[in-house]
Amino acid sequence: MLLDNHRRTINYLRLGVTDRCNLRCFYCMPEKGIDWLKRTELMSYEELLRICTLLVKMGVEKIRITGGEPFVRTDIMQFLTSLSGLKGLKELAITTNGVLTAPLIPELKKLGIRNINLSLDTLDRNRFFAITHRDELPAVLDTLEQLLHHNMDVKLNAVVMQGKNLDDIIPLVELTKQMPISVRFIEEMPFNGDGSHYPILEWDHVKILNTIKDIYPGIRKITDPSYSTSYNYHIPGHKGNVGIIAAYTRSFCGTCNRIRITPQGMLKTCLYDDGVMNIRDMVRVGHNDEYIQNSLIQALSNRAKDGWEAEKNRKEKNPVHESMATIGG
Ligand code: 5AD
Ligand code: SF4
Repeated sequence: MLLDNHRRTINYLRLGVTDRCNLRCFYCMPEKGIDWLKRTELMSYEELLRICTLLVKMGVEKIRITGGEPFVRTDIMQFLTSLSGLKGLKELAITTNGVLTAPLIPELKKLGIRNINLSLDTLDRNRFFAITHRDELPAVLDTLEQLLHHNMDVKLNAVVMQGKNLDDIIPLVELTKQMPISVRFIEEMPFNGDGSHYPILEWDHVKILNTIKDIYPGIRKITDPSYSTSYNYHIPGHKGNVGIIAAYTRSFCGTCNRIRITPQGMLKTCLYDDGVMNIRDMVRVGHNDEYIQNSLIQALSNRAKDGWEAEKNRKEKNPVHESMATIGG
């Protein structure tokens, strides 16, 4: 079992496989995109597989593939096939924006992948365009429908943004009436790729819950799964649940079981740190497994106790501004 210096279990890896994306969600990256990584900067599938194998041996049980948008990377299905065969890996999950996902669902299911997080901030086509700068809502809704058709375990992620999608909070909650999904509202974080807007958080988790409570006074708290980053709720009679993620308030750090590896191989022991070591470089200079494992253990024995401390310890002192696509969500 892998433990950090605060005796938190580390058993969950979020692996960013690309920084590229076919949407331009304004809270994640500027409309013109970001300076995309060069192919050589990106970890190859062989390198990714080696690192995943090592981490699974050390105690990682769950890997979530993120990006950018994972499905824009060439041959991603082949990589997922290899990864799904890793002995000791209990769960392989994916976060996707749903633009290219629908036709791949039967194949994902065959690989034993059940757990899909779908990013969807609005059900209105015009607002979708205003948020993502692309007219792809129909494709995303098709993905949602197909995921349900194939009995996948679906979590829908919606970032709550002042002036953008407040009118969507209740319609998104309403989806849980007929759909056995978890609709999760996320506080907006400053990871927008250019630092052009550092949001003053107006819509924190308390305000989001109160807005839902106004319309659904019967909503009740349910037990949160272990290591959950969301506060979870249920509306009597509904098939699905509602979750709220205090991503900016950072109230879930005490049980954080996750590490991140960015598409360029940077290990992050907290979403808010600026990278503690580059595993890709260790692999490329030819270090053996034991050396890399020891370096990982070393990094975990210096882990910040929460996201506030991690942010304070950043080497670069300006506020967090990097794109979520370079972090791996
Ligand atoms: N604030 C909050 N959530 C964000 N995401 C991307 N950028 C931000 C941000 N600045 C979310 C997306 C996606 C998940 C990986 O991260 O909605 O669902
Ligand atoms: Fe793409 Fe996701 Fe960033 Fe939107 S939030 S631009 S879907 S990586």
